[in-house]
Amino acid sequence: MANLYDPSVVKRLFDEMGKTYGWVNLVASFGFARRWRKQCLRAIRIPVGARAIDMMSGMGELCPDLSRRLGGEGSILAIDISETMVRKASRLDCQCKTTVVLADVLAYDFETAGADVVVCSFGLKTFSSQQIGELARIVACVLKPGGVFSFVEISVPDWSWLRRPYMFYLNHVVPWIGWLFLGNPDNYRQLGVYAAAFGNCREALRMFHNAGLDAQFHSFFFGCATGISGRRPSEQAEPKPVGGALQKVPRLAGRGIFVRICTGAAGLRWSSFWS
Ligand SMILES: C[S@@+](CC[C@H](N)C(=O)[O-])C[C@H]1O[C@@H](n2cnc3c(N)ncnc32)[C@H](O)[C@@H]1O
Repeated sequence: MANLYDPSVVKRLFDEMGKTYGWVNLVASFGFARRWRKQCLRAIRIPVGARAIDMMSGMGELCPDLSRRLGGEGSILAIDISETMVRKASRLDCQCKTTVVLADVLAYDFETAGADVVVCSFGLKTFSSQQIGELARIVACVLKPGGVFSFVEISVPDWSWLRRPYMFYLNHVVPWIGWLFLGNPDNYRQLGVYAAAFGNCREALRMFHNAGLDAQFHSFFFGCATGISGRRPSEQAEPKPVGGALQKVPRLAGRGIFVRICTGAAGLRWSSFWS
């Protein structure tokens, strides 16, 4: 059986699901997904003009709000493994310079201590515990001292009165909402499998602490989503480069990186991040 957490499996899932993901996500979550993304951004102080990274950025759902907070002088690196998602994200018209990159975050060659802000909505559940540990170390490396981060993810509520109906909804109703929008119900069923295995952000919290980050746990709507946010301490020894990040490693299936800058009125051009 294919490993659920193999990047090529996850990529295939989202390449297929990307065609219907936007509407299904909005409708199936009754708009809660949008609310939780806003709460994810509100959990941190985002400085105007900052350099931000949106990890597992999907179709760039966080980017419009994030760019408003960053202002015209800020910049966003949005990174995702799925071509379908990246193609849709690259059509966004953001207020600040936004670079959309097709790559695996665990294998991407990030600039060390180059970011003021790291954010991520709903991108943790398709990682194994070991991969989340690796991701935490990457976040600690890419953040400048004092830099802030915030992650949010769909979660299994602690309370059984809510857990049963919520998991029933994720496992049995959402796939059919996906089908109604001409998606493949099996793909949406798979999201329920990932969510059940993920549980909530408590384990991620522990791993972010282990990576030397100050982090706190958040629960949204009785634990239907949870999050972690915090900062890299200002006084901290340089974290050791780990995993794929900050090392030269082969990029996604040798495809190189697809980079596009959306500069709004200035039109589109190709470039490398922060060049
Ligand atoms: C559930 S979607 C979330 C998308 C978006 N952030 C949102 O708020 O809806 C998860 C995204 O994570 C991406 N992803 C999963 N594993 C990844 C990895 N290793 N590197 C980069 N992106 C990844 C998928 O391609 C997908 O677009």
